[in-house]
Amino acid sequence: MSGAPAGKARLGILLSGRGSNFVAIADSIAAGRLDAEIAVVISNRADAPGLAAARARGLNAVLLPSQGLEREAYDRQLAVELRKNHIDLVCLAGYMRLLSPWFIREFPMRILNIHPSLLPAFPGLDAQRQALEHGVKFSGCTVHFVDEGLDSGPIIQQAVVPVIEGDTVETLSARILNEEHRIYSEAIASLLAGPRLVDTESSGTPAR
Ligand code: GAR
Repeated sequence: MSGAPAGKARLGILLSGRGSNFVAIADSIAAGRLDAEIAVVISNRADAPGLAAARARGLNAVLLPSQGLEREAYDRQLAVELRKNHIDLVCLAGYMRLLSPWFIREFPMRILNIHPSLLPAFPGLDAQRQALEHGVKFSGCTVHFVDEGLDSGPIIQQAVVPVIEGDTVETLSARILNEEHRIYSEAIASLLAGPRLVDTESSGTPAR
């Protein structure tokens, strides 16, 4: 990567499922709220609705099945696809697979994730259920850089969501999801508007 994008920032989206955060990012771009382009959407699952949504929008949608592949071997395929598309940022959008340390070192401070809790509270799976079981009065969502820990990288943006009497995992998740859709694009925009992205290339192969 050669610093901040000269043209539009090129996003590589990784997803495994529904893809509503990807759709929200695509909508922000279409509405002119986010000055970026989606260079590639990659799914590790053939049946991910998010992959179909990317195809329906005419985006470069790539299926890279992960089943049966060792983590780093798969991530090396991912990196090839991302570099081929000259991405500036990797945005995890419901990507339900841990990334290998190799991959994270390959794209340092270039991988973003959205997580449905106020990190560092409730990392990992079922964050909304964890929040309800803990009895918190407020939860929310977090956009953060991905590092080698579990949902532990530097925080970029958060939104607070109240827990309401009688909430179920479904009702709380839906309320949090609304905020996810707002803050993911805002976080990307704030990063792109900030100081030039530092050249953190580790492989010697510029991504763009
Ligand atoms: C979102 O709630 C996202 O925060 C969560 O998965 C959902 C994906 O929804 N991600 C994680 O829990 C990651 N640890 P989407 O496919 O509709 O964007």
